[in-house]
Amino acid sequence: MMALVMASEGEAELSIIGAARRYWREQASLRNGVAATGALLHAFWEFLRDSTPSRLRQRFGDADYDWEYRVNTTSGAVGWRERLLGNFYSAYQPTDLPSFHEMLEVLRQHASLEFSEFTFIDLGSGKGRTLLMASEYPFRRVLGIELLPTLNQTACENIQKYKSDSQKCFDLKSICGDATRFPLPEGPLVVYLFNPFPEVPLRDAVQNIEKALASHWRPLYVVYYNPQLERVLAESTFLRRVVVMPQYSIFAAVN
Ligand SMILES: C[S@@+](CC[C@H](N)C(=O)[O-])C[C@H]1O[C@@H](n2cnc3c(N)ncnc32)[C@H](O)[C@@H]1O
Repeated sequence: MMALVMASEGEAELSIIGAARRYWREQASLRNGVAATGALLHAFWEFLRDSTPSRLRQRFGDADYDWEYRVNTTSGAVGWRERLLGNFYSAYQPTDLPSFHEMLEVLRQHASLEFSEFTFIDLGSGKGRTLLMASEYPFRRVLGIELLPTLNQTACENIQKYKSDSQKCFDLKSICGDATRFPLPEGPLVVYLFNPFPEVPLRDAVQNIEKALASHWRPLYVVYYNPQLERVLAESTFLRRVVVMPQYSIFAAVN
């Protein structure tokens, strides 16, 4: 069943002022008020820099996938509001196709995984490209959680539009909500992260995973692409790093 889901939770428009305040508070809790103000100004500066025509052209450089599958997953076509919010949460950027397949192949070989027993869940799934790519594997279910309603809406449309002769999983959903607090589904999981959160919410997300494992242990792998805050996962006593590559790391739940 190919599903189109618009969850009511988290659908409310996120305010830019609220997101900036929250970002300042998180930065201040990690460092101090002066550093937090500097980080906030830097986020606004990054937004302005990212608005130049040359940067826009660069972002459209990832559009090959969209041509191939007639979908809209490029970071080039993202509104200014979502781009600015992205600087406080994390900027939308889709995972590239070859890297995604490499990570899943490495996971399959490392753990001799039967994908059909696992749900794939992308925390911070954006326009849903990973959901489409994951549907090329025989996962039991594929699920994405995205904070920004417009990106989630595009992901839902992409799920409907996607057509591929080699698609193997048809139970696909994109849900709008806060992925750091989302109740993880039961059963074996492959949790995918592509730098979706700054440090404080990433710690919340790891705690959420730990809570799910503590209440019901199950095989669980975290595939972390471009792992800028890998140390946060490495500190967890529930997770063990099983694959380390320059571009990604894979963690397994410890029983
Ligand atoms: C780098 S993009 C990755 C997109 C997608 N996972 C992929 O690999 O193609 C990170 C995404 O995380 C989303 N995000 C940030 N904070 C979030 C949160 N608390 N809950 C859900 N999504 C969040 C951002 O809006 C953005 O779309």
